[in-house]
Amino acid sequence: MHYIGVNDRTTERFESLWPLPVGVSYNSYLVEGPDKVAIIDGVEVGHAMQQIDAIKMILDGREPDYLIINHMEPDHSGAIRLLRQEFPRLTIVGNAQALSMVEGFYGVADNVMTVKEDDVLSLGADTTLSFVMTPMVHWPETMMTYLREEETVFAGDAFGCFGALNGAVVDSDMDVERYFPEMIRYYSNIVGKYGVFVQRAIKKLGSLKFGTVCPTHGPVWREHLDRVAGIYDSLSRYEPLDRGVTVVYGSMYGNTLRMAEAVADRLAAEGVRDIVFRNAAKDDLSYILADLFTHAGVVFAAPTYSDTIFPPVAAVIEAMALRGLNNRLTAVVGEYTWAPQAARKMTACLEERGVTLVSEAVSAKQSPTADVLGQCEAIAAALAEKLKKD
Ligand code: FEO
Repeated sequence: MHYIGVNDRTTERFESLWPLPVGVSYNSYLVEGPDKVAIIDGVEVGHAMQQIDAIKMILDGREPDYLIINHMEPDHSGAIRLLRQEFPRLTIVGNAQALSMVEGFYGVADNVMTVKEDDVLSLGADTTLSFVMTPMVHWPETMMTYLREEETVFAGDAFGCFGALNGAVVDSDMDVERYFPEMIRYYSNIVGKYGVFVQRAIKKLGSLKFGTVCPTHGPVWREHLDRVAGIYDSLSRYEPLDRGVTVVYGSMYGNTLRMAEAVADRLAAEGVRDIVFRNAAKDDLSYILADLFTHAGVVFAAPTYSDTIFPPVAAVIEAMALRGLNNRLTAVVGEYTWAPQAARKMTACLEERGVTLVSEAVSAKQSPTADVLGQCEAIAAALAEKLKKD
């Protein structure tokens, strides 16, 4: 097995949405058998020549026989047409949905091989690949490839994370701590909606014997595999990773923020240690989603704006709902000048999406009074109580 992936340290936003402050890797692997050679997953098109050069250098005149497509999102499939041009005999291997996308995205329909659950592709003695269908992690065609003799799973995006690889590829050869926040961000941003399908994939993997997972982004996991699997398992069950609270607020002139601060002060007094403030109008949604998936509690604080919820806070509620994250312990505070809409509409919006508030929302007119700040403390106490119990 050889690593033939690349690092992307220049793209500002993954999928044109999610910030990449420490880059991202597009991982690809080469499996050399005695008879045949397989490339597992491609890279993004802008890096295709680097991947092709790596293949040529390793194979030294030998031609790859197969390109196995675990996932068709173009950060991995973009190189397909160039790989085929460079290696004209390359057979493209994927499930029926993947091959339909190969034709749709790249106009390539010849010399393809359709595989399904448990099909086996031998590369020669002691080099046996088989295929595990894991749809909707996070596209419909996603699958995994298993190299039996090496007890290795090529997992596609599953178990992946943002962050370019700084020299080493395998987790045991690097300080991995920096990758874990990027894993939570990657999962919550991109895969988060598909927890049910990630759970199915994890259960399927339970029938395989493996000690190495090669994802399409981030380190190859061996030494820290249990921790990584635990994070993916918890996140895909929508279980928080800690008992902290995310305070998602919007505040035009500071009045709503005073309410949010009153809530946080009381939470801290009640013993909540991990409290993160996120200004929805300024902080990137990417990081807010990571916090929401991490923490057991959330406080939404927003003023009324154009007769509804301050739009950046409404957008966070919508993004959370889109991902099916509706089991956080949730409190709401709202503010208004003449039309008391924020607290009422946040409550309705959250309840429609299956969220139960820990206590009735607090609503303040203009500047919060001592009485209103006391109500904020009361909902904080209710939230803290539930955080201790649940
Ligand atoms: Fe890394 Fe879903 O592509």
